[in-house]
Amino acid sequence: MSIFQWNDNLLIGNALIDSEHKELVKAINDFFDACDRKINRDELQKTLSFLNSYTIKHFSDEEQLQVKYNYPNYEGHKKFHEFYKETVRQLMREFIMRGLNDELVAKAKHDVGEAIIAHIKSEDRRLATHIRSME
Ligand SMILES: [Fe+2]
Repeated sequence: MSIFQWNDNLLIGNALIDSEHKELVKAINDFFDACDRKINRDELQKTLSFLNSYTIKHFSDEEQLQVKYNYPNYEGHKKFHEFYKETVRQLMREFIMRGLNDELVAKAKHDVGEAIIAHIKSEDRRLATHIRSME
């Protein structure tokens, strides 16, 4: 079973964001699955690269929606996005330098997996509510 199992209580009610969140959670799970299976370094690196690029794409799409709908908490939300993107970049750097280790996996679970789930349930839900109120 995937470590960050998709659950419909993560749906926030915006079709684009919801479908991207599903993909993002899948990318996170693919990384942890790869860690569990201890597949070779290149394959693991690929799951991290995808997670990194998909995170950038998803946040950019969300930010465009925020601009389009004049989201009042754009700056605060973007701050989290920047922080999170740096966390994923840092994870990649550490993996490249030191390879897989327990500390890296634990850090990724907390700072990448749990952090995005919490963000979806709070900030992103607020964003979707705002978008609906503007439509
Ligand atoms: Fe967000």
